[in-house]
Amino acid sequence: SSVLRVALLGGGTVGAAVARHLLQHADRYAASLGRRPELTGVAVRDTTRVRDGIPAQLLTTDATALAEDPGTEVVVEVMGGIEPAGSLVEAALRRGAQVVTANKQLVARRGEELHALAREHGGGLHYEAAVMAAVPVLSVVRDSLAGDEVTAIRGIVNGSTNYVLDLVAREGVPFAEAVRQAGELGYLEADPTEDLEGLDAAAKVAILARMAWGVALPLDEVATTGISGLTDADFAAAAGRGEVLKLVADARRDPQGGVRARVAPTALPASDALAQARGGTNVVEIEAVLAGAVRLSGAGAGGDQTASAVLGDLVRAAGATRVG
Ligand code: NAP
Ligand code: HSE
Repeated sequence: SSVLRVALLGGGTVGAAVARHLLQHADRYAASLGRRPELTGVAVRDTTRVRDGIPAQLLTTDATALAEDPGTEVVVEVMGGIEPAGSLVEAALRRGAQVVTANKQLVARRGEELHALAREHGGGLHYEAAVMAAVPVLSVVRDSLAGDEVTAIRGIVNGSTNYVLDLVAREGVPFAEAVRQAGELGYLEADPTEDLEGLDAAAKVAILARMAWGVALPLDEVATTGISGLTDADFAAAAGRGEVLKLVADARRDPQGGVRARVAPTALPASDALAQARGGTNVVEIEAVLAGAVRLSGAGAGGDQTASAVLGDLVRAAGATRVG
């Protein structure tokens, strides 16, 4: 048909930005999607709250109805959490829909199984937004470097902790105040321990490892330390050595052919590209045999920035629906 029906599960920081751009620039999206996008609804918990960019009549608490509607070709999950998001994504995949999600925890935990469901039922699963938001790192690892051999990936993949570390290190802002500011900017997850304890970064590095080496890396195999245990003394000691404290995520091939992944606060020399990441910026350095080091950086969090990746996946998802 000439209309592409899209359901939005979640109308928060990311969902509202996706809805706003899709509705305000419907003509442009009609051109890139090949069909005019029609939002079938936006699932939220509280339909009485006014949300910038989302017409009130689109709001619903019935996420299941949106996900299961057989006429909806693309389901965009920007709700977060493992449940009910997982069941909703699963239901959409079981009826052969294209699913776009920004949910790194879900993809890191159930990615294999959800990919298998997509294959089995002729649908698709897209999650560029789940890792580094606006920075198209998954596309680069999957597509651009498909003819090369990635050997290591190292990066700052969590925007909120980088914002916090940068504010403390550069401006001497107290740790708790910096955390509060990161939350205000919409950088922190609904459960801030996900960011502060490194779990968000661990999920992202597990997804990157899967993309680079095809291995399912259980989250408990990512050695993970967050930033919550850092003290003012640690910052002072690093500064005294001319180093910068960053939350570094690292995944590499080991000589036995396995993959080792970790997330940990790391003191980097000031000259390191990762040390120079300011505010909510994310940076990733991919090492490949032929390419050498490839570096990408940009906004790793925020509503519009994440919407950029979600909408890119929506364009790919629309392309996939045309094939079938
Ligand atoms: P958010 O602001 O908390 O929005 C979540 C939305 O989902 C809200 O509209 C909420 O409804 C709705 N929701 C939650 N549980 C629901 C339920 N059981 N039934 C119906 N609706 C429900 O979160 P966000 O920051 O947009 O993040 C969404 C996803 O994107 C997460 O997976 C996150 O990890 C990922 N992500 C976020 C960013 C970022 O910078 N924010 C970047 C990359 C990826 P109410 O509004 O009524 O509470
Ligand atoms: N809370 C996450 C971050 C959002 O700070 O990086 C983007 O995934």
